[in-house]
Amino acid sequence: MVYKYLIGNPVETQAVVMDCPVSQEYPDYFSISTEDGFLMETVLGEQDLVYGLGENVRGINKRGWIYESSCCDEKDHDETKSALYSAHNFLIIDGVQTVGIFIDTPGDVVFDIGYTRLDRLSIRVSDGNLRLYVLEGDSAYEIAREFRRMTGQSYAAPRWAFGYQQSRWGYGSEEEVRQVVKGYQENHIPLDAIGMDIDYMERYKDFTVDRTAFPDFEGLVKELKEEGIRLVPIIDAAVKIEEGYDVYEEGIEKGYFCKNEDGSVFEAGVWPGWTHFPDVLNDEARQWFGEKYKMFLDMEIEGFWNDMNEPAIFYSREELDRVWEKIEGYKNKNLNVDEFFDLEGLFPACLNNRRDYERFYHEMDGVKICHKQVHNLYGYYMTRAASQGIEKFRADKRTLLFSRSSYIGMHRYAGIWTGDNKAWWSHILLNLKMLPSLNMCGFLYVGADLGGFAGDCTKDLLMRWIALGIFTPLMRNHARRNTRRKECYQFENPGDFRNLLKVRYALIPYLYSEYMKAVLEDDLMFRPLAFDYRSDDRARKVEDQLMLGKDLMIAPVYEQNADGRYVYLPEDMVLVRFRSDEDYSTEYLEKGHHYVEVKLTEVPVFIKKNHFLPVCSAASCTDQMDTGKMTLLGAMDREISYRLYEDDGYTQEIGNESHITEIWVDKEGRARAAGKELVNRILQM
Ligand code: GLC
Repeated sequence: MVYKYLIGNPVETQAVVMDCPVSQEYPDYFSISTEDGFLMETVLGEQDLVYGLGENVRGINKRGWIYESSCCDEKDHDETKSALYSAHNFLIIDGVQTVGIFIDTPGDVVFDIGYTRLDRLSIRVSDGNLRLYVLEGDSAYEIAREFRRMTGQSYAAPRWAFGYQQSRWGYGSEEEVRQVVKGYQENHIPLDAIGMDIDYMERYKDFTVDRTAFPDFEGLVKELKEEGIRLVPIIDAAVKIEEGYDVYEEGIEKGYFCKNEDGSVFEAGVWPGWTHFPDVLNDEARQWFGEKYKMFLDMEIEGFWNDMNEPAIFYSREELDRVWEKIEGYKNKNLNVDEFFDLEGLFPACLNNRRDYERFYHEMDGVKICHKQVHNLYGYYMTRAASQGIEKFRADKRTLLFSRSSYIGMHRYAGIWTGDNKAWWSHILLNLKMLPSLNMCGFLYVGADLGGFAGDCTKDLLMRWIALGIFTPLMRNHARRNTRRKECYQFENPGDFRNLLKVRYALIPYLYSEYMKAVLEDDLMFRPLAFDYRSDDRARKVEDQLMLGKDLMIAPVYEQNADGRYVYLPEDMVLVRFRSDEDYSTEYLEKGHHYVEVKLTEVPVFIKKNHFLPVCSAASCTDQMDTGKMTLLGAMDREISYRLYEDDGYTQEIGNESHITEIWVDKEGRARAAGKELVNRILQM
């Protein structure tokens, strides 16, 4: 059951697609006040769990911290932070009351979940304008699915986007890109795509190519595609101010950039120096910006990543002037301690300063609106621009698209990656914890920078991280410039990575099947254990294992020098230790706690009893995969079956009954499926 309330005069965000009648009476378990902005409070029972909030720090259970929805170019994803790049204002209380709450407003929202008082949840929207949705249901899982139905079908990525992607800031020339591809090919490590960071552009200008470093970009795209490898260029939000640059000149002429209050065009410093922001909240400007992607579609590019769209601002004139003025005042002065700390923080404070978000304006449906009020929509609408532009010129095919910033609703157009994490062991666990929260908010095509974006990665960190990344739809190794090289072949014994990545390719049929079913059925690919085992008190507490699809549980190792980890099994399962696509061992484990040994070269997967995992042989890239022959792994004591979803992987033809292959295994262990050669390795219990 969904209850909708209209409070104040909210901006239409296009997050919800379902029609919901407006209710008047608030549920009695909330106390709601609209006197000074909007404040909603409720008491949390001792055993209540709070799920949701998508991309955020800390646990799957969000209790015990204060979160703020304010999209931010945040480079430190640590426990002191309250906001990252996205605003995912949906949460579920699972306890005395089982209820979902969606705060639909593009402005700031504060979620105090047991921070001020351990037993209180309070939500504040200071400007008081929002659509409030309250979802009632029997379980948290049911509420999450109701929310997904309300907000519309998630983006479906092409199947090649499930291949392994290598990226780095920055591959500075055609030669360098070829070297990377060669490194993978010579070591027989599978690869499907190369991420092109800002270095391919001419002076960081969107929709340009640096012709000195990439004289035949088009040729490179075609040459690599013949080898089954796609180039995925980055597009940034800000447009460089430069006479003669068509995007800049058109934007100025048509009035498509965000403006200051006095009508002049707002300027901010980002990678290219001074820039303007396309007003993607304005229909015409959005269409114009989206159609720019055509330039790359014409070169047969099939995927993009949208970045810096919080939007990130390095500095504005006003903030820089403030810094110079202060420095002038401090010069030659005997600084006291407060002045010294002030001086120390002056430049960092210029970055993504909230004062700048109050300085510029959009024109939305003919109405001038301050950016601050709609801040959290910018990344969503930039990506919607891209999606709609691409749709216009490449309607029949699926295109890979993922963004850094997002708001709920954007999940219908694209996926996300979780931004600038670090080469830290704790960030493997953070990556895991975000997955179910992102799925609840609609984002299914998701992944983190494997090995960490910033900082120097070690071989063991990358291997353990890949052993989690193997399960995420977006599987991309990306790094910051000036960090240690971490393409798989850069470490000793690259064969170790070859074997790990072969496991990924062996699992692609299953992962793609579960992903697409989650898309088509508004379901979650990754779930907290408690969603599946509601009455199991142990399962409710687990924060480092996830249910994956309908058949698997994952429990990666995320500590350095560990030879394994404790795993809780809520029921009997088969542990498969994959060492490569065709090299694995299986072990039947009973419900309960186990210490599971996992070597660095192994990927553990847990298969529920009377379920099975179909795997195929790996290939050098997804285009080369043969899924006609599959091996079935698991344990059974009765007849079982699996509905494998397979389509052509690239057209918009999705979700037909003909895309399902039913695989049956009868009590005697005879396996059958139309058009498949099956090898049955399922344990008979
Ligand atoms: C941002 C992105 C990162 C990218 C860098 C340079 O920090 O999050 O992925 O490499 O910009 O474009």
